[in-house]
Amino acid sequence: MPPVTAPDAQPPTKPCSTAADEPCPHADRPGPVPPGLTAASRAPLAPAPAEPLTSTSSDVEVEGWKVYVSEAVAAPAWDQKELTVGQLSERSGAAVSALHFYERKGLISSRRTSGNQRRYPRGMLRRVALIRIGQRVGIPLADIKAALDQLPDGRTPTKKDWERLSRSWREELDERIRMLQQVRDDFTDCIGCGCLSLNRCSLANRHDELGKHGEGARRLVESA
Ligand code: FES
Repeated sequence: MPPVTAPDAQPPTKPCSTAADEPCPHADRPGPVPPGLTAASRAPLAPAPAEPLTSTSSDVEVEGWKVYVSEAVAAPAWDQKELTVGQLSERSGAAVSALHFYERKGLISSRRTSGNQRRYPRGMLRRVALIRIGQRVGIPLADIKAALDQLPDGRTPTKKDWERLSRSWREELDERIRMLQQVRDDFTDCIGCGCLSLNRCSLANRHDELGKHGEGARRLVESA
């Protein structure tokens, strides 16, 4: 009795004789359908979605390999002293991968459980909030770290500690606010960047005179 094949089965293709270091010209030709399957069942699977680094992942070291383990994230109780990385992510709005990054850079810290899972003191939420706000207003991570380094190690910062930190940032923030206002109000006009593309630039920045003052948008930089 002849072998049973699916109706749309194709004859087996001969092995490709292309040299090993050349791409196979038949790479996209579908192979024969195995007995008992239909062409539809051979349809390529949709690519598996990349595993999102969401707040429901936690990393665990197993024999030197870092693996991500899903865990259900329950909102931390208000009096919960320590948070898992998922809970810190959920409450702070920072992705788990971002929290790991902050930790690698020494901006935040955690203790490890006997199962090698991270646990963060609840006060870490305030640090993460400060990091995220700082980044949002364009403060370099190194400056944020320098500010956070002023906070005491090993104890929850007090109101006075935070006051000291915000004082040290005041000047920097004022400067940024001035610059943002400048951009908001003057970006429609010549900013002295050297483009000479606006109609009045050749008058406002004739022959790119401002280029002699240095790099960048001189008019914005100098008036900020
Ligand atoms: S806007 Fe570029 S030189 Fe005026």
